[in-house]
Amino acid sequence: MTPRLEEVTPANFDAATGIRIRPGQEHAVEPVVKSLAEAYVHPAGVAWPRLIVDDDRPVGFLMAFLDIDWNGDGSVHRSGLWRLNIAADTQGRGYGRFAVESVAAEIRRRGGKEMYVSWHPGPDGPEEFYLRLGFRKNGETSGGQTVGVLEL
Ligand SMILES: CC(C)(COP(=O)(O)OP(=O)(O)OC[C@H]1O[C@@H](n2cnc3c(N)ncnc32)[C@H](O)[C@@H]1OP(=O)(O)O)[C@@H](O)C(=O)NCCC(=O)NCCS
Repeated sequence: MTPRLEEVTPANFDAATGIRIRPGQEHAVEPVVKSLAEAYVHPAGVAWPRLIVDDDRPVGFLMAFLDIDWNGDGSVHRSGLWRLNIAADTQGRGYGRFAVESVAAEIRRRGGKEMYVSWHPGPDGPEEFYLRLGFRKNGETSGGQTVGVLEL
């Protein structure tokens, strides 16, 4: 497994928007096309969308948020993982871990010391995945989702 990240361009747009998670997981993450639309409407530099490719095969999509105004009042700025969609037939092979480590490296490169994520709570969400990768719940919720943080 030698995955890499690609910027989303006209050349791989269809591959990115074609990433499909498993049936029954749709409550846990938005479709890629919605994430890309959100990236477009946010100020430049806030969203960091990337296609995850292995051996030229698209295996997933991630979108980080970089230095956002968390409360909307300028008091707290955070970076983290906004979206993560690993393709149905390539889940369980380490691509999710690769995505988290890649975003952690990017945040660290920019001088960040913490990586945030929020997830759908309960057994039908990805909580165990994030806890296994070292995130801890910080006691907050965001839009009904559990907030987790990883020290970098
Ligand atoms: C959650 C998701 C991103 C995990 O990606 P993945 O590529 O399948 O995960 P990995 O293969 O990298 O797994 C990394 C580790 O987490 C564990 N893990 C992954 N999913 C898990 C789950 N649902 N429950 C428990 N452990 C899990 C793996 O066993 C592995 O542990 P190990 O390295 O100790 O063996 C993927 O299943 C997915 O896209 N789900 C649907 C959408 C979603 O929930 N996205 C997150 C939105 S916040």
